[in-house]
Amino acid sequence: MITVSKLNKKFDQTTVLESIDFSVNKGEVVCLVGPSGSGKTTLLRCLNLLEIPNGGTITIGDKTVNFDQAPPSKKEIAQLRRYSGMVFQGFHLFPHKTVIENIIEAPLVVKKANRKTLIDKGKSLLEKVGMLEHIAKYPDALSGGQQQRVAIARALMMEPEVMLFDEPTSALDPQLVKEVLRVIESLAKEGQTMVIVTHEMNFARRVADKALFMDDGIIVEDGPAKEVLSQPEKERTKQFLQLLDDD
Ligand SMILES: Nc1ncnc2c1ncn2[C@@H]1O[C@H](COP(=O)(O)OP(=O)(O)O)[C@@H](O)[C@H]1O
Ligand SMILES: [Mg+2]
Repeated sequence: MITVSKLNKKFDQTTVLESIDFSVNKGEVVCLVGPSGSGKTTLLRCLNLLEIPNGGTITIGDKTVNFDQAPPSKKEIAQLRRYSGMVFQGFHLFPHKTVIENIIEAPLVVKKANRKTLIDKGKSLLEKVGMLEHIAKYPDALSGGQQQRVAIARALMMEPEVMLFDEPTSALDPQLVKEVLRVIESLAKEGQTMVIVTHEMNFARRVADKALFMDDGIIVEDGPAKEVLSQPEKERTKQFLQLLDDD
């Protein structure tokens, strides 16, 4: 489903991702963990081409883009981006649009789909994330957990092959974290392919098939989640997990 090979990303002269290799199979949940500043967000943004890598290749679905020579064309960017849906730490909903308007906006513009069809689909996704009763509200009338569930439904509207989550619960009050994790867990059960950056280790141990531990722009350890998150081999992974468990 996703293959990343020798991916490099620099900001000015500073390398922030160095020769990243990993793959995600269809239906797999991969958790990406690591200290602040290690490059997790940059890696997710590269998968969605919100950042353009400086080298390497990314394959998602049947589309491969190579970044070693020329930068990708607008068309290539659009093609690759279509395969993934992104959920950010902050919820990024349009403040002047209602829940349902937020959800149908992208497919209405990008796919030029029929409004009535999109509203029907939007309602079924809102039901899935437990937000159907709030369909006509504006974002500021919703809690952070509710806004994030709307953001998840919005990303699902485009029927992405893979969902990318960047610390989806880290901006939430503790009592709102569970409702969001529950929605993500239900997607995992349905077989949605996902890459999730998270510090919620119990959640990660429950839902992840694979885990990647990143530090300082490289993947230090990569393997079955049970091993990487519970019995890591590398000293750096052990130390990082120890710090989280001490919290
Ligand atoms: N737009 C940017 N311009 C310059 N440096 C950046 C930019 N975005 C991130 N960085 C740097 O890249 C490194 C990795 O950041 P990031 O991917 O946000 O890490 P993480 O998500 O693991 O905390 C950090 O050193 C950060 O300061
Ligand atoms: Mg980050």
